[in-house]
Amino acid sequence: MLPNELCKLAMEAMGHAYAPYSGFQVGAALLCADGSVYQGCNIENAAYSPTNCAERTAIFKAVYDGHRDFTAIAVCGGKGGVITGAFPPCGVCRQVMREFCGDDFRIYLVNDKGFETVTLAQLLPYGFTAGEHMSANE
Ligand code: THU
Repeated sequence: MLPNELCKLAMEAMGHAYAPYSGFQVGAALLCADGSVYQGCNIENAAYSPTNCAERTAIFKAVYDGHRDFTAIAVCGGKGGVITGAFPPCGVCRQVMREFCGDDFRIYLVNDKGFETVTLAQLLPYGFTAGEHMSANE
């Protein structure tokens, strides 16, 4: 799957957003190592903090289905579903990516002209994963 194709699937996923409070529609498309793709959208809530971002929706769907090895994610968003620039992942989503993905996990940020590529190492350097720091499960 080419980055451009993954970006198109993220744009399609935007249309599934449930965003009555912010009006920002966000879409994501996650590419698994085996080639399968999971799409996600933001799902808001009247209490605000239970809101789930598009990236986490896609990642949680994939993990539920048994995937833990991810290659890339495309993300796009904008007010009323109109893309005016890149919509970078929030800090919580970066941490969830860090749980499953390495430094070279690629994030394609869709903008009004195409997309730009960043790595997880760029978005979340010095990342924390429990496996590296805890022995509770050993
Ligand atoms: N949002 C995402 O879906 N992904 C991000 O990485 C940033 C924020 C959503 C949450 C909320 O529904 C809306 O965008 C405005 O913050």
